[in-house]
Amino acid sequence: MTVHFIGAGPGAPDLLTLRGRDLIAASPVCLYAGSLIPQELLRHCPEGARMINTAPLSLDDIIAEIANAHAQGLDVARLHSGDLSVWSAMGEQLRRLRALDIPYDITPGVPSFAAGAAALGAELTLPGVAQSVVLTRTPGRASPMPGGETLAAFAATGATLAIHLSIHRLGEVAAELGAHYGTDCPVAVVWRASWPDQRIVRGTLATIASDVAETMERTALILVGRALAAEDFDDSRLYAPDYDRRFRAGRADAVKA
Ligand SMILES: C[S@@+](CC[C@H](N)C(=O)[O-])C[C@H]1O[C@@H](n2cnc3c(N)ncnc32)[C@H](O)[C@@H]1O
Repeated sequence: MTVHFIGAGPGAPDLLTLRGRDLIAASPVCLYAGSLIPQELLRHCPEGARMINTAPLSLDDIIAEIANAHAQGLDVARLHSGDLSVWSAMGEQLRRLRALDIPYDITPGVPSFAAGAAALGAELTLPGVAQSVVLTRTPGRASPMPGGETLAAFAATGATLAIHLSIHRLGEVAAELGAHYGTDCPVAVVWRASWPDQRIVRGTLATIASDVAETMERTALILVGRALAAEDFDDSRLYAPDYDRRFRAGRADAVKA
């Protein structure tokens, strides 16, 4: 028996990995995180599967469901939105499973920042403009930020920021970042990236707060940085004619396909 933690992707049901799909199909129990998991993904569950929406459950309830499946020798597919490495609440579940000696594995998923960038048609790391992406958030009622992790500290690097869980603070975020990136710095808000009703608003740190509709709440990302609108960046060296590449045909040590 294994608990399969599966990143269910940002929303579009076909942005699930093949491994994730196959594990869901092979697991007689499926725990999924309510509103962020598209119902269509549950179609991969085998007939008769026990499907539980964990949105109203406590951690204790969730672990009790898993322990129950474990006692019966039933595999569990545990779905979380996007990828599991960020803001999935997986860490606390893994800790309980280790204590109970219940085996688990993890299958990554497409994170929302990647779906947001795809929706924008943007590379977030452009040569000479930005070579780092910071995945961050602002503090929530139940989630204070560790001391050094301030927007100002990240902004001081000039990296592209992908700010999660913060659309309700868009005005404050834009005002704070304007002091570091300049108020003309490009910003995009991507709401429900990859869902059929996806919406995108582009602007600058000066304009974005007034351009985003109040209805674009909760499932939205704020992407900030010069890379979002740069055109005068350098080509990457990767495809430069004089760049010495191991994979280039003709080189003695070229890797054969
Ligand atoms: C609890 S976190 C989950 C993050 C997820 N594990 C990931 O890999 O992106 C939820 C936040 O992620 C962002 N998010 C998740 N799915 C999104 C989507 N489809 N479009 C835009 N933002 C999304 C929003 O900022 C939302 O408040």
